[in-house]
Amino acid sequence: MTTIAIVYHSGFGRTAAQAEAVLRGIQSVPDVTAHLIRVEDVEAHWATLDAADAIVFGSPTYMGSVSGPFKSFMDASSRRWLQQAWKDKIAAGFTNSGSLSGDKLNTLVQLAIFAAQHGMVWVGQAELPGGRADDAINRIGSMLGAAAQSDQGSSRPSDGDLATAEKFGARVAYAAQRWKRGAI
Ligand SMILES: Cc1cc2nc3c(=O)[nH]c(=O)nc-3n(C[C@H](O)[C@H](O)[C@H](O)COP(=O)(O)O)c2cc1C
Repeated sequence: MTTIAIVYHSGFGRTAAQAEAVLRGIQSVPDVTAHLIRVEDVEAHWATLDAADAIVFGSPTYMGSVSGPFKSFMDASSRRWLQQAWKDKIAAGFTNSGSLSGDKLNTLVQLAIFAAQHGMVWVGQAELPGGRADDAINRIGSMLGAAAQSDQGSSRPSDGDLATAEKFGARVAYAAQRWKRGAI
């Protein structure tokens, strides 16, 4: 059994909807167990993260970067860094923001560097951009990780962004399985 943890922050529920879509994608892959962890609850879940084969990081983009609560989680994880507790785990990341760009790329770069700090192995987003319609896959055109955009009056990202997140979750799950199977 391959185990994957998603650890995420969401101030207003929209990145939470994206995280749940990533979870659905992971759960669509046989023989994979997934855990959805809010950063607010992480103190009770460090052991779950330590035991996971893969960790998916998710944060809204606030002021062109990860949110404050997610950054606090990153800083708190430095105890894991010291022990290299997450070295060689699969890592991936997603973000959601109000604008189409909104400087989301910077958030994904932050997440990828964070994973590299931990010696993790980053898996990107592999769906080609399918156009600009609301139901289009990867309409944001993001390859480093899964990206979503939520309108101010909406409680969640577009259908296409959620479908993209689902495909992304499945990709991470298959990658984690292959990585685990090949471990020596
Ligand atoms: C403090 C703050 C900063 C924000 N900064 C950005 C930003 O830099 N770029 C952007 O496109 N949207 C920005 N937004 C909008 C949020 O990214 C957007 O509302 C998102 O859907 C919130 O996700 P959440 O519901 O998971 O918190 C900001 C929102 C807040 C509250």
